[in-house]
Amino acid sequence: MKGLKIVSTGRALPAKVVTNDDMSKLVETSDEWITTRTGIRTRHFCEGETQAALAEQAARRALEQGKVEPKDLCACIVATVTPDHSAPTSACLLQQRLGLPEDIPCFDMNVGCTGFIYALQVARGFLLQSGRPYALVIGAESLSRITDFTDRGTCVLFGDGAGAVVVTLEEGGIYACTLGARGDAEAILIEGPGPERPYIHMDGQKVFRFAVEAVPHCIHVLLEETGLSLEDIDWFVPHQANKRIIDHVAKKLKVPNEKFYQNMMRYGNTSAASIPIALDEMAEQGLLKKGQKILCVGFGAGLTWGGALLEW
Ligand code: UT7
Repeated sequence: MKGLKIVSTGRALPAKVVTNDDMSKLVETSDEWITTRTGIRTRHFCEGETQAALAEQAARRALEQGKVEPKDLCACIVATVTPDHSAPTSACLLQQRLGLPEDIPCFDMNVGCTGFIYALQVARGFLLQSGRPYALVIGAESLSRITDFTDRGTCVLFGDGAGAVVVTLEEGGIYACTLGARGDAEAILIEGPGPERPYIHMDGQKVFRFAVEAVPHCIHVLLEETGLSLEDIDWFVPHQANKRIIDHVAKKLKVPNEKFYQNMMRYGNTSAASIPIALDEMAEQGLLKKGQKILCVGFGAGLTWGGALLEW
């Protein structure tokens, strides 16, 4: 079985940093409430930067870091719920801006916060068929554009940003993926395009209950498929929605909390971008060592869930 390997990573965050105290000037909230209920302390909001510009910056970094030439890519996939336009897609804009080959698929995928995991698996499919060695997978969001800044239940949660990875196939390497969906327009709803600005609505408690089931479910499926145990996993890289969700899962599985990477304190919930941003930070900090087993797990709008287990 050919495993999927991450060759290189990149990330991009908008310049503007917004603190919890800043949020408390917009809605009835406090640093204390946001920190204890979510773990979030700051987030970045676009101010002039477009979602495609963030995606481009993250992608350029990943390509440069991996010394990968655009001509060697077999696909460019952008996971997002907040593209700048319905068309052209962000992936097509990247084709133009990065000078990607014209004979490869470039498209966006909307799978909520699980988008990056779905996109990894789709990229693997293209790699298996293609003569070219690499694929570019990006998670990029400008959630501040669809945030209702009068709704304290959601506006304190989200942030903007992008993360990118270059992936390739590796003979013999470990790889497993699980994906799922359960349609539910009440848990999380992002309004469609219309005359009004579209907003994100969420039943936070329902999503919380869903998340603390979906994450362990994905982990168990991946371990069963690979014959590995919890102790064999070096790093869990979950979607960064809420510190309490991650802490709850770590405790339930009796896995040391430090094995679950967390950065929502700096970025908030960046939806499809959160896992690739986390991977880039971890790589930059030297936390990821060759041969380590990394389990990424996402959950979110749809509802959807997905996990990918791979070797660094
Ligand atoms: O990426 C997509 C996946 N999304 C998620 O994973 C989100 C999952 N859910 C959550 O993270 C949590 O449910 C939230 C952080 C959204 C909310 O935390 P909670 O502990 O479930 O709070 P709650 O919704 O039960 O609200 C508790 C109280 C309410 O007041 P009352 O009714 O008890 O008087 C809310 O009105 O907290 C109030 N509240 C706030 N207070 C201060 C809600 N938002 C705020 C706020 N500041 N920002």
